[in-house]
Amino acid sequence: MLILGIDTSCDDTSAAIVEDGGKIISNIVSNQDEIHEKYGGIVPELASRRHIEMIWPVVREAMNKANASFRDISAIAVSHGPGLIGSLLVGVCFAKSLSFVNKIPLIAINHLEGHMLSIFLEATPEFPFVALVVSGGHTNIYIVNGFGQYTEVGRTRDDAAGEAFDKVSKLLGFGYPGGPVIDALSLKGDPSAINFPRASIRGCYDFSFSGLKTAVLNYIKKKPQTPKEDIAASFQAAVVDVLTDRAVEVATKKGINRIVLSGGVSANSALRKKIKLVAEEKEIDVLLPSPHLCTDNAAMISLAAFHHFINGNIADLSLNPKAYMPLVSADG
Ligand code: KG4
Ligand code: ZN
Repeated sequence: MLILGIDTSCDDTSAAIVEDGGKIISNIVSNQDEIHEKYGGIVPELASRRHIEMIWPVVREAMNKANASFRDISAIAVSHGPGLIGSLLVGVCFAKSLSFVNKIPLIAINHLEGHMLSIFLEATPEFPFVALVVSGGHTNIYIVNGFGQYTEVGRTRDDAAGEAFDKVSKLLGFGYPGGPVIDALSLKGDPSAINFPRASIRGCYDFSFSGLKTAVLNYIKKKPQTPKEDIAASFQAAVVDVLTDRAVEVATKKGINRIVLSGGVSANSALRKKIKLVAEEKEIDVLLPSPHLCTDNAAMISLAAFHHFINGNIADLSLNPKAYMPLVSADG
């Protein structure tokens, strides 16, 4: 069974074909980095215009690479939130049109569920597991008891971890997206050069990154001669410590011995190393998607859709995108 997935939730136009809920046949991602780079962040209007230009070529390439025609496609899946509303609208309208014209069932997917399940494109972790979803817009921790069974136990109170990477990159005079820039710069810096704050919120598993961002800003103002590599590495170490501690704490307290990472920030080399090291000391397994499946891609949307499709969870043409859309269990 082939599912065509479409994701235009933010600044990547992506289409993929996944077979039987796991095997990637094609996964095309067209990024817009060169458009937004000079602004130090995503310009929503430019993002949606570019999606309009790219959606058909990207879908066509995914179909061609899979050597498939619409007759071969069992369902069309699309991210309908959360994300930038103008960007989401392009993917949702396009998927609805394809579904209507070709009489193929439409499946609505929460983009966060796509990230959370992306590991299933490469591995089959047993349930339950702790899911740390860290992207440009979200930093959430869930307990996952099965497909469609998600309980959120922690979230950021302000900035997402990826947003903090992007803002610090901008403060240091580099472009968007900031994560890969800071990751590379940090390899040449000293992570213990500056002791940036590691925020913790008493009595819960929530995160806060806005204080860290302000601390970096103040530090740069006060000591502008500090090597950028040291600032980057010290900032990254603070984010990595907080993400690692919180995910391992949830797993330990809930008695779950598996942590699954996802979202763009989980491509971070320091985070991948540290969380494995700390968790494995406590006999907790850590599963990491390959870096190209951590960032936005439509294969994860096709994969998540498989489980909705076999449960008869089909959307209709009244489907609309939503910028804000918490991930809740299938039974509400
Ligand atoms: O999951 P994603 O592609 O899109 C969203 O759903 O937001 O995540 C994008 C975020 C950006 O903030 C980007 O800077 C960050 O992921 N990112 C990284 C790395 N690669 C991407 N952050 C840290 N280290 C990386 N290597
Ligand atoms: Zn994403």
